Amino acid sequence: MLKPEIEDGQASLADPQFRADVLAGLERRPRAIPARWFYDHRGSQLFEQITELPEYYPTRTETAILQRIAPELARLVPADAALVEFGSGSSTKTPLVIDAMKPSAYVPIDISGDFLRESSRALSAAYPDLFVLPFEADFTRALTLPKTIAAAPKLGFFPGSTIGNLIPHAAVDLLRAMRGSLGLGAHLLIGMDRIKDADVLTRAYDDAAGVTAAFNMNLLGRINRELDGTVPLDSFAHRARWNDDRARIEMHLEALRDVAFEVEGRPFAIEAGATIHTENSHKYGPRDARILLRAGGWTPVAEWTDPDGLFGVYLAEAQAERPAP
Ligand code: AVI
Repeated sequence: MLKPEIEDGQASLADPQFRADVLAGLERRPRAIPARWFYDHRGSQLFEQITELPEYYPTRTETAILQRIAPELARLVPADAALVEFGSGSSTKTPLVIDAMKPSAYVPIDISGDFLRESSRALSAAYPDLFVLPFEADFTRALTLPKTIAAAPKLGFFPGSTIGNLIPHAAVDLLRAMRGSLGLGAHLLIGMDRIKDADVLTRAYDDAAGVTAAFNMNLLGRINRELDGTVPLDSFAHRARWNDDRARIEMHLEALRDVAFEVEGRPFAIEAGATIHTENSHKYGPRDARILLRAGGWTPVAEWTDPDGLFGVYLAEAQAERPAP
């Protein structure tokens, strides 16, 4: 998802922001590196594998919900709406929404141009009559969308519970930015994973086949590949913990012994048992989700879940904000 990527055996310059985040994150206490850096070429492949794991229920559960609600969605969203997908990825869910609401245009927004072009090509091939307008941009800021869709009603789409990877105040900022980009009267269709049994949650992030462990460990591999790192990979282990107070799964890389290594020539030491925090995945109950949406300037208008109540899909509207009593 993020440039530049490194194919096997092929050197390329590291992203300066990756370098800055890794060096600052290893310096800070507690140590933490932003989860966005998981998604190099290998990390994106591993994430695709995660979505198919038996323990990782969110993808198949959300997909089933979207399939089921298609007719209702068609009734709730204006027929000529333009579909704006935030962080289009290689989503298999987009066609479900396209089939349901028959949008007048599809605007996938992603920070990675290569990724965007690839997914837009595939979508255009599958829907030759659909007006596809790929937009290379950072959607965490309010954007001016292409003029061609200025007059159309808009449906924002943000599936996958990616909102959960942000801490709540950043999630609210993002929802506000989406409101700013889509404008008053727009709708937002968003997926949020729900709070549930801690064992079910922990297994989803620490699967038996070790794919999530490989996904987490790939961050250290990426540091070695791109930042001239000497991190001994066998000295770290993947950990996934449920933090009940913050209602989130945390992923960490724990040092199994005292470790010393270099990144771009800078020395670092991590004591046995200490961790590098690599990801948060917040879970929202239905009320939490509604409050989060409202805090972000969105009024919930419909919500759906699966028969086991594992995952929530919400439709919200950017209504004029009324003064509080
Ligand atoms: C992308 N995101 C919503 C995933 C999640 O569930 O938080 C990332 C992930 N991390 C480990 N497994 C999946």
